[in-house]
Amino acid sequence: MGVIFHKTAQQFHLFNNKISYVIGICPDGEVGHLYFGKRIHENQILANEQTRGIRPLCCNRKENEDYTKELALLEYPAFGNGDFRSPAYEVQQDNGSRVTNLVYVSHNIYPGKKRIPGLPASYVNVETEATTLELRCLDEVAGMDVTLFYTIWENYPVISRYAKIHNVGKTTFVINKASSVCLDFYDNEYEWMQFEGAWGRERYPKVRNLSAGSSSIESMRGHSSASYNPFVIVKRKNTDEHMGEAIGIHLVYSGNFRAKAESDMYGKLRVTMGINPRWFAWPLAPGDEFYTPEALLEFTQNGLNDLSQTIHSFLNHQMVRSPYKGKGRPILLNNWEATEMDFDEEKILRIARKGKEAGVELFVLDDGWFGKRNDDYAGLGDWFVNTDKLPEGIKGLSEKVNALGLQFGLWIEPEMVNEDSDLYRAHPDWVLAAPNRPRSLGRHQMVLDYSKPEVVDAIYDMLYQVISTASISYIKWDMNRSITECYSQGAPATEQGTIYHKYIKGVYSLYERLIAAFPEILFESCASGGARFDAGMLYYAPQAWCSDDTDGHERVKIQYGTSYGYPIASMGAHVSASPNLQTGRDIAIDDRANIACFGTFGYELDLNEISEEEFQKVKEQIVFMKEYRELFQYGNLYRLQSPFEKNISAWMVVSEDRKDAIVVTYKTLKTPNVGIDRIKLQGLNPDGKYRINGGQTTYGDYLMEVGIPTQDGEESWFYSDGDFSSRRYILKSEVTK
Ligand code: GLA
Repeated sequence: MGVIFHKTAQQFHLFNNKISYVIGICPDGEVGHLYFGKRIHENQILANEQTRGIRPLCCNRKENEDYTKELALLEYPAFGNGDFRSPAYEVQQDNGSRVTNLVYVSHNIYPGKKRIPGLPASYVNVETEATTLELRCLDEVAGMDVTLFYTIWENYPVISRYAKIHNVGKTTFVINKASSVCLDFYDNEYEWMQFEGAWGRERYPKVRNLSAGSSSIESMRGHSSASYNPFVIVKRKNTDEHMGEAIGIHLVYSGNFRAKAESDMYGKLRVTMGINPRWFAWPLAPGDEFYTPEALLEFTQNGLNDLSQTIHSFLNHQMVRSPYKGKGRPILLNNWEATEMDFDEEKILRIARKGKEAGVELFVLDDGWFGKRNDDYAGLGDWFVNTDKLPEGIKGLSEKVNALGLQFGLWIEPEMVNEDSDLYRAHPDWVLAAPNRPRSLGRHQMVLDYSKPEVVDAIYDMLYQVISTASISYIKWDMNRSITECYSQGAPATEQGTIYHKYIKGVYSLYERLIAAFPEILFESCASGGARFDAGMLYYAPQAWCSDDTDGHERVKIQYGTSYGYPIASMGAHVSASPNLQTGRDIAIDDRANIACFGTFGYELDLNEISEEEFQKVKEQIVFMKEYRELFQYGNLYRLQSPFEKNISAWMVVSEDRKDAIVVTYKTLKTPNVGIDRIKLQGLNPDGKYRINGGQTTYGDYLMEVGIPTQDGEESWFYSDGDFSSRRYILKSEVTK
């Protein structure tokens, strides 16, 4: 693993056992891209076909007549001097010119990885596990010094990238675009998988062909959004779950983003991803620096499932920072769907007591405990306890919950304010609002202007007071509306293009301060369910509420889709009441649990309200989950059959030593007389004899090559399941390999 600089050829080769990433300096000094893919020999000098001369339409220079940028693959291309594709960045200088040209000047190679000031990013646990290459480039005319950062890890087929723009000139210039990554491909025979949806149906995978024109996804909502996730998989057309080439690209960012793919007239493909350039205008004064968010590039030649396993392991080890990193997550009980805001201390304690009896470990008090929060018209912004509901405060309640033998957790929504709140009455200028225009509401609330440090300070002080005086082990941080009228009251006109980005940096800074003050707290992020589920959030909150849709059937799709880009340990998943609050659907309690166990696992209902028989099942589920949570949350995941494609879907987790595995199949609708269909298992030890659900034993190779039947039939292990039913198989083998 490392980075080699071939001086004569002016090529940089980043490599580990799995991948190579090769950069070559172009004849005009621009930083060119030569290769990203399976490891090739690090001493190989790559042919630089980019110097080929053809009949370019006006894009070469006298001093280099056979070089055209139209054909070049580039690392951080500009617009305006011969490359007509989407640029990686755009800068407007004070004379109005947008023409720039970055020329390589020097480089630095060192072990480890730096932090990005004020932004989330992957990190190293020990310096020796990764190597970083910094490439410094200069545009002398604009006075712009750009450093491109690349890190490669020893153990992952992953490259981290980001850029720093430094004004070394004498005048301010405005950054209108600064991508985190630009990746050029020699050909465009690719498609990408995007993860899209809306409230209640987040992160459904959809495949789009990239070989013609341009395609993009973006968010302009001020958060990464449920509409499109800041994660795409660029893949060959024949790549499926278990074979073929694919590159995952995560933007480690929770604000507005854009991912764009563009095919050009030579059949090449360019993919860029970064902060959404729409409404982005960042004036950079002489001496100042701007850092882009980080992008992660993950590579596989072995299909999407292998790519996901790399991503899961990488995010679990190199992004999540909490003391819960690598640990089984506490089984929690949340009161939201049980009570909404209508509760008092006794009602809460009654729910918590029953949770304790069932075996849960953490009780979470959701929305409604503060200010005048009896409905969603009032209270947000007033982070002091409502003593009408909780006479002994959060302190008293948390101590009583602790006395039951449970940890205590609390819901907050610190970025928002209601019109009916003391905070808004005192500081109407603290919300994002355009001058002389109505303020749009979302769930009757407005968005606080987190670009202002005094707003973040005030919220921090209020939250510090509550948290430091109570016994709090967990915080659910919600964010329940998108940003509109993005204008910071009182800030100069020239600053207004910076507000979206400063807002999310304000959010990150509050997270950072709370984590520093309360390092033992487990944070779970949430945004009306899963509308801010991204790699950036995982840096602060190691788990995220996947969706407000807790219907078992819907959750199969949501969690299956989420698993492409995010680990099981990050997915907040709870068993809720039946009929389900969101869909009205009835699903048996064990089937609801069989999907929630592929996640952080918990309950979102009043356990006093279910039948004794169901309560006994809940107790068994919790015993089961306590035994197997590490396997679910950190085992190797295999997606076997997609709920987006078939009536029966399935996935499984396998322990690192392949001795333990759990398979779950989900049936959508019962269909009569369909014959026998099989699902082949994956990742087992072929020589291992697996005992299935404590009964018969079967060789791993049989399970993987022949499979298990998924419909009723003579040799089936299945019963006649109904609609929305599931089956769970626990596999145990004595043989390790
Ligand atoms: C959002 C969350 C829910 C719940 C409510 C409380 O919708 O996604 O889980 O916390 O807010 O208002």
